[in-house]
Amino acid sequence: MPGKDTTVSDILPIAEAIARRAGAIVREGLGRVHPVRQKGAIDFVTEFDQRAEELIVSSLQREFPEHAILAEESGHHPRTGEYQWVVDPIDGTTNFAHGLPLFAISLGLLRGNVPVAGVIYDPRHEEMFSAALGRGASLNGRPIRVSSQPDLGQALLATGFAYDIRTNPRNNLAQFAQFQLRTQGVRRLGSAALDCAWTALGRLDGYWEFGIKPWDVAAGGLLVREAGGRTTSTAGDEDFIAPGTIVVSNGLLHEQILRVLREGDAAPLPK
Ligand code: IPD
Ligand code: CA
Repeated sequence: MPGKDTTVSDILPIAEAIARRAGAIVREGLGRVHPVRQKGAIDFVTEFDQRAEELIVSSLQREFPEHAILAEESGHHPRTGEYQWVVDPIDGTTNFAHGLPLFAISLGLLRGNVPVAGVIYDPRHEEMFSAALGRGASLNGRPIRVSSQPDLGQALLATGFAYDIRTNPRNNLAQFAQFQLRTQGVRRLGSAALDCAWTALGRLDGYWEFGIKPWDVAAGGLLVREAGGRTTSTAGDEDFIAPGTIVVSNGLLHEQILRVLREGDAAPLPK
């Protein structure tokens, strides 16, 4: 268990309260955002990413002094213990900066590369998703479950594109077309955390992405597992943190999704 006297049941309400406080900061910034730093050609940081992250990191350090933290904007805050929080203060920064209300705060707790607890908070819609290893997943305190869609041809998937899309030949555009032809539709929502949370809830049947970071998916990958679905790398490995690729699904569709990723244009089309 994380910490001498702390259990996962203690951790979740604390993490939820921290995510709510960060959410209040982020909500305040919607519609009046100025990028403060350009990280890449299409990748930037706003003052709200920074302010929310400062609040999250200082709160986690106060509550869990023995836990390391890896945060999107400030990087590593090392400790000697085996637990590490991975923090995305705004997953969906591009949406947020354009005033598009689809973004979330994501806090995942890893033991090694295994997610053991996670919360994803969508402050615009006041949706708090949380999960702990072996204890199920919930939305605003109510248990949630993945969809029961067994047929890829009828499934609604989501995907995303990494910020190096202009220069990386493995930029997911070929796979996007392959899935668009083999499903009911593919959405690009712009928040990996919500792609996972919404798969856990059954709004989506699955999601895949290459070039993903631990803070984007640690909490979300666990949510899907705890909601009865499956989470792997795009190669099908249980560890999706180290490879930096992810497939989440309701479980029933998982092998069909992995097959399209493996076979590409040669994968069967729906009848
Ligand atoms: C991004 C979003 C997006 C995904 C990118 C991520 P950010 O995170 O999750 O949906 O496609 O790969 O980097 O930058 O908004 O936190
Ligand atoms: Ca982010």
